[in-house]
Amino acid sequence: DEDNCVRAHLLRWYDHNQRELPWRRKHGGAWDDDGDAKEKRAYEVWVSEVMLQQTRVSSVVAYYNRWMERWPTVHSLANASQEEVNEMWAGLGYYRRARFLLEGAKSIAKQGRFPGNAAELLGVPGIGNYTAGAIASIAFNEVVPVVDVNVVRVISRLQAISSNPKESSTVKLIWNLAGQLVDKSRPGDLNQALMELGATICMPTNPKCTNCPVSDQCRALSLSRCNKSSIKVTD
Ligand code: ADE
Repeated sequence: DEDNCVRAHLLRWYDHNQRELPWRRKHGGAWDDDGDAKEKRAYEVWVSEVMLQQTRVSSVVAYYNRWMERWPTVHSLANASQEEVNEMWAGLGYYRRARFLLEGAKSIAKQGRFPGNAAELLGVPGIGNYTAGAIASIAFNEVVPVVDVNVVRVISRLQAISSNPKESSTVKLIWNLAGQLVDKSRPGDLNQALMELGATICMPTNPKCTNCPVSDQCRALSLSRCNKSSIKVTD
C-alpha cells in the first residue's frame, strides 16, 4: 500500500543521505545480548536528542562530543553536580534541559539499570513521548513513533492535513499516523529519516520537492500542482 511505498523510499533515501553524526556510530558487539552496549546506545541517543530539541545539529555536535568525553556513561553523569552540568551546557540555552538530564540520570542510577522500553522510559523525570520514542526506536529497535515539529510538517504535507500544526488534536492525529508509518524492522531509521527529511528537504518555506524521495506520494504537492491556491506547500 501507500505507507509501504513511503517507507521504502524514505529508508533508501536515508541510507544514502543521512548525515554522519557521532551518536549514529555503532558500537562493537551484538546489541541484542550485550546489555552494556545497549545501555550505552540509549544514553547516547538520550543526550543527543535532548540537545537536539531546541538546537541545530551543526551546533550540537561539539557539545555532544565534549559531554561524552566528560560523562561517558549515565552513572558518571549521575555523580556530576548541577554546576558542572550547567557549565558544560553553557551556550546551548534552555537550561531546563540540562537539569532534566541530570535529574533523569540520578533517577536511572538509583534504579540501577537503564529503562528497557518506551513505557518505562516515560517514568524517568524529564523524558516525555518524544524522547522516549527516540531512545526506544533508535537504541532498542522498538516499533514506536517519534514526532517533532519536522515530523508534524512532513506528515501533514504527505497527507495534505491542513489543520493547525500547533493544535493538540492535530499533533495527536500526527502521532497516530506516524505510528502507522513506522517501519517494523527499522523503526529508528524510519523515524530519523522523517526528522532528517523535515530538516533538510521538507523545510517550512521553499521545500526542495524536486529532491524529495516521497514527492510522488505527497498529497500537498499534487494538490498544489492541480490548484495552486488550495493548499500551500509552504506554511
Ligand atoms: N532531529 C532531532 N533528532 C534527530 C535525529 N535523530 N535525526 C535527525 N534529525 C533529528
